Amino acid sequence: MADLSNNHEAPGEPILQVRNLQKHFPLTQGILFKKQVGAVKAVDGVSFDLYQGETLGIVGESGCGKSTVAKLLMNLERATAGEVFYKGQDITKLSGRALKAVRRNIQMVFQDPYTSLNPRMTVGDIIGEPFDIHPEVAPKGDRRRKVQELLDVVGLNPEYINRYPHQFSGGQRQRIGIARGLALNPEIIICDEPVSALDVSVQAQVINLMGKLQDEFNLSYIFIAHDLSIVRHISDRVGVMYLGKMAEIGTDEQIYEHPTHPYTQALLSAVPVPDPEARAHRERIILTGDVPSPANPPSGCSFRTRCWKAQEKCSQEAPVLAVPQRFQGVDSPAAHFSACHFAEEKQVVPVH
Ligand SMILES: Nc1ncnc2c1ncn2[C@@H]1O[C@H](COP(=O)(O)OP(=O)(O)O)[C@@H](O)[C@H]1O
Ligand SMILES: [Mg+2]
Repeated sequence: MADLSNNHEAPGEPILQVRNLQKHFPLTQGILFKKQVGAVKAVDGVSFDLYQGETLGIVGESGCGKSTVAKLLMNLERATAGEVFYKGQDITKLSGRALKAVRRNIQMVFQDPYTSLNPRMTVGDIIGEPFDIHPEVAPKGDRRRKVQELLDVVGLNPEYINRYPHQFSGGQRQRIGIARGLALNPEIIICDEPVSALDVSVQAQVINLMGKLQDEFNLSYIFIAHDLSIVRHISDRVGVMYLGKMAEIGTDEQIYEHPTHPYTQALLSAVPVPDPEARAHRERIILTGDVPSPANPPSGCSFRTRCWKAQEKCSQEAPVLAVPQRFQGVDSPAAHFSACHFAEEKQVVPVH
């Protein structure tokens, strides 16, 4: 496993440390006597740090394991292996009261504001629901005021407290989801594709709101998206996932200007470029073939079946997520990790 330990002075302390996280869903056959015939390796050895006050973008195609990582970070799914340290405490081993206490500080905002809000509950009940589990945050008599304050914080009229979700637009519904996420005053918010279901024109407004709330409440974000363009302006660092693994992780600049992993380079080449001059000079990388099944990933490097750089070694040996020689000497969190046998090579494909 990659050594991501940080013994140096860092600008912020890691608030979450994820180590070799795995989630394998059993594949079974038979109805009466279920027999395990394999496993879907949804998350297969993921390691990263989340620093206090930062936004870490996590990007990858549909099915690469992003939502499963999100659920593992809150222990909504039990990890098959690995650890998630929140301020030094391994969440994956917690249950009952200890888990409840940690979960208060780690909240989630879900992808689809159309289905994640109960249509039969008023906005006030939806936003105030977390107080049922943690009444110590808002005693009964104080709830209404708290909920109205939260509505105001996310830019909604506090008088809407008795309305139902269908009376709001998609963007407003996601603001309700964000207000609920903020209710318990968490330190970390995991946003699982929070704007993917919204119109492009509304996406920026919601992202701006999230940026504002981050400053106001000193939040650390994990911001999941399926494409690199969405997280660009909100992320301090970005991790790129492929088939249950982290392919590359680094600062905004490292990932967008100096990507080392062929998969990152391919994803970047698909990002629309508004400037026609820059577009003309750009080389598109078209990935051939489908994403392999996580139940039967390729040997060695899981990206090799679609990689234009792949060589013999790639089918025999799985590359480890590590800092290439040429980037060493930089302290975390500015370290640039890559899981490619050829990460030592300077970038050969123009991506901008
Ligand atoms: N509860 C489950 N049981 C079996 N397979 C699952 C389950 N949840 C997710 N998967 C599989 O795990 C893989 C990763 O899924 P997911 O984490 O939802 O990816 P993403 O969010 O990146 O689209 C997919 O192949 C998906 O079908
Ligand atoms: Mg998902």
